[in-house]
This record gives sequence, C-alpha cells and structure tokens, in this order.
Amino acid sequence: MKQNNRMLFLLTTTITLLLGSTNIFAAEGDTSLDNVMKFMLIVTLFMIAFVLWLIVVYSEKEDSEGKTFKAPLIAFRKFLTRSTPIENEKEILLSHNYDGIRELDNRIPPWFSMLFYGTIIWAAIYFMVFHVFDDGQVQSKEYKVEIEKAKMERDFLVRTGAFINEETVKFVDDAASMAEGKEIYLKNCATCHGQNGEGLVGPNLTDDFWIHGGGVKNIFKVIKYGVPAKGMISWETQLDPKKMQSASSYIITLHGTNPPNGKTAEGEKWIEPADDKQALTKGS
Ligand code: HEC
Repeated sequence: MKQNNRMLFLLTTTITLLLGSTNIFAAEGDTSLDNVMKFMLIVTLFMIAFVLWLIVVYSEKEDSEGKTFKAPLIAFRKFLTRSTPIENEKEILLSHNYDGIRELDNRIPPWFSMLFYGTIIWAAIYFMVFHVFDDGQVQSKEYKVEIEKAKMERDFLVRTGAFINEETVKFVDDAASMAEGKEIYLKNCATCHGQNGEGLVGPNLTDDFWIHGGGVKNIFKVIKYGVPAKGMISWETQLDPKKMQSASSYIITLHGTNPPNGKTAEGEKWIEPADDKQALTKGS
C-alpha cells in the first residue's frame, strides 16, 4: 500500500510538472523567449524555496529521522491520495470474503477525481473556445491562417523584388517602373553614360551594340555585378532587384533614340532572341 502511494505520488507530480511546462512552452511561437524566461523564473523560485526549506530542516536539531524534511511531502501525498492508514484499515474492510481475499472500501483518491473532473471542465472550455466562440484554431482554420500568412510573405517578397534575378528579370514598362528607372538612371548612371544614354566614360546605351550583350537579362546582369575592372561598379548592394529591373527596362527604352553626341559604338551588334523580343513588345 505504502509503496503504491509513493508511486502514485511520483506519477502525479511528474504529470503535473510536465503539464505545467508544456503549457508554458506551447504558447505563441513568437514569444518563446518570453516563455523560456518565465520557465527559468519558475525554476529559480522553486530552487529558492527548496533552499529555504533545507535551511529550516537543518535548523531543526531534534529531528534525527528527518521528519521535518519529509513532512510537506507526506502532507502533499496525503492530500492527493487520502488513503486510510494501515492501522485503521479495519474500519473500511468490507464484509465479504472470497477464499480469503477481502476488499477495502478505500475512497477514490483525490488525484484521480481531480483528473476526471479536470478533463470534463477542460472539455467544456475547449468546446466553447474552439467550436462556439471560434477563438481557437481547429486544424482547418490553422491551415487557412498559415496559407494566408505564406501569401502575405510571398506578396512582400514579390513587392521587394526578391524573386527577380538575372534569370527571371522582365522588361517592365508600366509608368511607375519607368519613372523609377529614369530617376535611378539620372541619379546614378548619367554621370558616366550621359543624360540620354549617349555615352561618356561608359558606353553608349542607345545603339545596337553591346559589350556584354543586350536585352534585359544581360543589362540587368551588368548592373547587378558590374564590370569592376572597367570602371562599371556593381549596384547589387545599393539597388534592390526591383530597382535594378526598372533601371534595366528604362535603358531598353533608350534604344534607337539616337541622342546627339552619341559615343561610337562598342561591342557586338545585339540581335534580340525571339522570346525576349516578345517580352519587349508585350511587357510582362
Ligand atoms: C563610374 C562610371 C559609371 C557609372 C556611374 C555607371 N556605369 Fe555603367 N558602365 C561604365 C563603364 C566604364 C562601362 C563599360 C564596361 C566595360 O567596358 O566592360 C559600363 C557598362 C555598362 C553597361 C553595359 C554596356 C554594354 O555595352 O554592354 C550597362 C548596361 C551599364 N553600364 C548600366 C549602368 C547603369 C544602369 C548605371 C547606373 C545604375 C551605370 N551603368 C553606372 C561606367 C559607369
């Protein structure tokens, strides 16, 4: 009987502690650090309480059997089990007797009743929160929320042009991109390529000839990585991909404008491959 009680006591304390800690960690993902802090705080308080308790126990000089030490544990176990002490067992012995096997009318241990009623209360709260007030997230709602979140993240990435690189870059000719491209060009590029792309230190950007190939992809690549050895810097760190796309597109619109003082052509004549031409005429 005693052995049993000890086991039950151990079991219930572990379960209580486990439940407590999972509850602490199960809350919102973003605040997990907060929760770790809370958990640490609780552990620390427990440790302080334990040390204080040890001080009390050690100051008890008459107690050679360690009764003071065990007292709260025994009290707690009693509270959880409410079992009848062995010396009083006669009082709860039932009258029947099967081949010498007799039955004790022990009361249901409170820890068990607490679990039982606890689950009922829990079920009611759960039902209200998840199915009546619709506050909690049942699986299907959780799924929807996650999809929504992923969509927002994707939209953000699209807006900032995170998916734009030299492979995916497109010629864009909507007014906003054009205005942006022009602004970037005048601010950063005109000093070397001329106000109208006619070429100064840098090559002419309006003719049919390109040192590194024409078309939006090649232009984007040169802007992104630069040609440091020849004095064309890499803009990757100063312009986000979307801005580089706008600048590339703006440069494409300069083609054939034939500005005055055009610098002599450099490089090879560029012939637009069929599918890029399509992109050029149709936009993206
Ligand atoms: C400091 C001067 C300088 C600035 C500023 C500059 N470039 Fe250049 N750029 C050059 C030079 C020089 C070259 C030629 C590189 C070579 O010979 O390989 C070049 C080449 C290029 C080319 C490739 C031309 C070809 O024929 O293949 C493009 C496109 C280009 N620049 C775009 C830009 C854009 C867009 C900006 C502004 C964001 C810019 N450049 C700013 C100097 C500059």
